[in-house]
Amino acid sequence: MKDIYILGIESSCDETSCAIVKNGQEEIATVISSQIDIHKQYGGVVPEIASRHHIRNISIVIEECLEQAHMTMNDIDAIAITYGPGLIGSLLVGVEAAKTLSFLYQKPLIPVHHIVGHIYANELKEPMHFPLMALIVSGGHTELVYMKDHYQFQILGKTLDDAVGECYDKVARVIGIPYPGGPQIDRMAKVGKPTYHLPIPLNDDSYHFSFSGLKSAVINLVHKETQRGNPIQKEDLARSFQDVVTSVIVKKCKQALTDYPVNTLIVAGGVAANSGIRNGLKELCQDKQIHLSCPEIRLCTDNAAMIASAGYYAWKLGKRGDLTLNAKSNVDLQ
Ligand code: KG4
Ligand code: ZN
Repeated sequence: MKDIYILGIESSCDETSCAIVKNGQEEIATVISSQIDIHKQYGGVVPEIASRHHIRNISIVIEECLEQAHMTMNDIDAIAITYGPGLIGSLLVGVEAAKTLSFLYQKPLIPVHHIVGHIYANELKEPMHFPLMALIVSGGHTELVYMKDHYQFQILGKTLDDAVGECYDKVARVIGIPYPGGPQIDRMAKVGKPTYHLPIPLNDDSYHFSFSGLKSAVINLVHKETQRGNPIQKEDLARSFQDVVTSVIVKKCKQALTDYPVNTLIVAGGVAANSGIRNGLKELCQDKQIHLSCPEIRLCTDNAAMIASAGYYAWKLGKRGDLTLNAKSNVDLQ
């Protein structure tokens, strides 16, 4: 069988990325241009600034990726593009670039949902075995998805308010850690003790999540302690917070794995890099005797390799876009 090379493009938030993946599983080249240092000074991603930087970077990133792969557009079989969800101005830059390449080189265009990309990041590590459960935890999403086969998504639960990564970043901000504070909170939690009492949010039998109450509880605690003149033990607060987040995530996954028997739990998205959550889910999967699969940490956060991998399976299923494809800031998993 002929090898299929998919060129993926991702620009939904603050990373401009292009990658080439062979047969959905073999990463040939990945280039990521991150804007974190630019947005850091504002405490979060500024959409207008993000789209302007995507415009500046997109051609460079695509050219560099082809160069690293020692390939030209003639070697590419199809172009996979993140069309949503995400920041509309950012998405548009990638979508227009992909449509232009598709038109110019007469290559099929494959629209990819950003969260589907996060799930398929696992495919770059090991083949997925169905049925499986996927937990997506990122800066913009928290979802539990049951998959019977490729591209069959049943959303069991999602966050009712903030995403888990968003909650991490806001908690970090209140204790003076620059954006994105998730990784730093994780590092601090490793050396802290769980001495602060925080409520477990949406501690019920549903598969849904809620993180805004927990975020408010941390903000209130920091304000109260500061007013009383008690210095915050940042490492201990990070540990207390991380333990609560981990316990609720493990609880919801446990419920879902009990109700929907599977062989594998996939964890995807930026927060899948979190050591507390990884360890909690590792224990859960050992208890349930199922396989836990996490992408390489480098491919947990936004990148185009995951889009190219997801694009390959969409390509195999005959999913195609055309030049009327538009970016969508909000779109259901499909
Ligand atoms: O998937 P991603 O790159 O962007 C979205 O699609 O949202 O995820 C970025 C998020 C940020 O909120 C960041 O703080 C969080 O992932 N993150 C972490 C860790 N590494 C990244 N949160 C907690 N612990 C980590 N180790
Ligand atoms: Zn993402």
